[in-house]
Amino acid sequence: ATNRTFTMIKPDAVQENHIGGILHMMEEGGFRIVELQKLLLTPERAGQFYAVHAERPFYNDLVKYMSSGPIVAAVLEKDNAVADFRTLIGATNPAQAAEGTIRKKYAKSIEANAVHGSDSDENAQIEADFFFGSK
Ligand code: CMP
Repeated sequence: ATNRTFTMIKPDAVQENHIGGILHMMEEGGFRIVELQKLLLTPERAGQFYAVHAERPFYNDLVKYMSSGPIVAAVLEKDNAVADFRTLIGATNPAQAAEGTIRKKYAKSIEANAVHGSDSDENAQIEADFFFGSK
């Protein structure tokens, strides 16, 4: 069955003019872009999005980083979307990201890692709704 995942292109990648390159890799990877928006998160909104990480030592820096410049939020559609997209983006830490992945090509650090991808169908729905509302 076709299903969906949620992604963000993070501030470092937007700042360095990689929106097109990253969206191209997503489309070439078989994902259809069904929602797309460039926007700036306030620190409050970024904190809400990453609330699940609130107790992590990197949380405050993450919130600051994710509100430091515009991002691109998108909903993507493909069979097996969540798992296949996590394969396409590669490991959180770009030093461990496989050849051919988006993070291998574009991520700069474990924090500034170019893209986000949902980790479950449930979170994909929650995260898509956070930006685009229930549809
Ligand atoms: P993401 O997949 O969006 O989910 C949580 C984010 O926190 C992650 O990508 C990174 O941007 C950031 N992150 C995860 N682990 C670390 C870490 N050890 N140090 C700094 N940032 C991290």
